[in-house]
Amino acid sequence: MEEKQLKLCMVGFGNAAAAFCQLMHEKMTVIEKDYGVKVLLTGIAGRSKGSLLNGQGIDLAALLQSVAGTGKLSGMPEELLDCSAEEVINRCNADVLVELSTLSIMDGQPAIRHIETAFARGLHVITANKGPIAWDFDRLNKLAERQNRIFLFETTVMDGAPVFNLISETLPGCKVLSFKGILNSTTNFILEEMEHGNSYQDAVKEAQRRGFAEADPSLDVDGWDAAAKTAAIANVVLKARLRPTDVDRTGISGIGIEEIKAAQERLQKFKLLCEGYIENNQVVGRVRPVLVAGNDIYSNIDATSSILTITTDLMGEISIIEKDPEIKQTAYGIYSDLLRLINLLRCR
Ligand SMILES: NC(=O)c1ccc[n+]([C@@H]2O[C@H](COP(=O)([O-])OP(=O)(O)OC[C@H]3O[C@@H](n4cnc5c(N)ncnc54)[C@H](OP(=O)(O)O)[C@@H]3O)[C@@H](O)[C@H]2O)c1
Repeated sequence: MEEKQLKLCMVGFGNAAAAFCQLMHEKMTVIEKDYGVKVLLTGIAGRSKGSLLNGQGIDLAALLQSVAGTGKLSGMPEELLDCSAEEVINRCNADVLVELSTLSIMDGQPAIRHIETAFARGLHVITANKGPIAWDFDRLNKLAERQNRIFLFETTVMDGAPVFNLISETLPGCKVLSFKGILNSTTNFILEEMEHGNSYQDAVKEAQRRGFAEADPSLDVDGWDAAAKTAAIANVVLKARLRPTDVDRTGISGIGIEEIKAAQERLQKFKLLCEGYIENNQVVGRVRPVLVAGNDIYSNIDATSSILTITTDLMGEISIIEKDPEIKQTAYGIYSDLLRLINLLRCR
């Protein structure tokens, strides 16, 4: 029987892309054996790293070695292009766009344009970038449906932990009524460091040293990242049309060390809570610091761990926790979407 091929075009070649390529490289023979599909990476658009095209499939081992050595795609034998991501998507004759460009929390671009270009070209889309889901999910999803394309985005919230798949794949017939969660690592880490007696400034510096807080931490501290995740979840599971700017948002900068100490004396902790619920027939998104009791499961979600609780009509409340995620969990999220896409294509 002739082996099927699935060609991927990747936009963005940063940490998530490199970890996903490493995992694909390790799992290539498993995918071929178990799914009967040979996955080829035929194009990469990497902005400052340059872009590559190779219709026969880029050598993943050489790619990883080249990027680790030079930080660029330029050591590769493939055609090196100086062109936009849209041009790479249009030229690389792929079946699937894997969108892994930098998140722009304030407008979801240029990832929204990359996804539109892919659908217009007839590609399926997998993305780990929550910008498009937080800003424009309803329209992009309808675009995918009109083009009969598959649109997967599991990694956008809680990396590879099943959030959207949990609901769509394993809870058939269940309606989500509301959700809440702790979804921003940086603020969770800063609050915990302050509980240990460290100042806010030292806590931010430590989060930056460990590599999960940006040089400008305001997008986390002011609740924008949490608002984007809230909008993304609300848009998918509550069928809302929220944007991050529609989420009622309060960050953690108003919480001082004295308030944290006072809470500790009452055996309470501050947590930045994301919520989505329906009020007066409207979906409401909210992000704010709340006090949780020491015996509440939310009180034990520490450092970079996260939790999401959904309340459903038929299954009551279900919580999912991701403990101490690393880049491997991000890579797994993208990989799990790839396998799901292969399965969905087999059923067509
Ligand atoms: N890292 C994680 O654990 C994680 C977890 C869940 C979701 N995500 C999401 O996954 C995506 C990638 O994350 P990451 O950690 O890999 O980020 P990253 O290391 O900053 O890499 C992003 C890459 O995208 C490239 N890029 C930006 N705009 C581009 C454009 N217009 N065309 C082509 N390439 C472009 C950047 O190029 P330059 O090299 O020129 O800057 C960079 O190489 C983000 O949206 C992020 O929110 C990441």
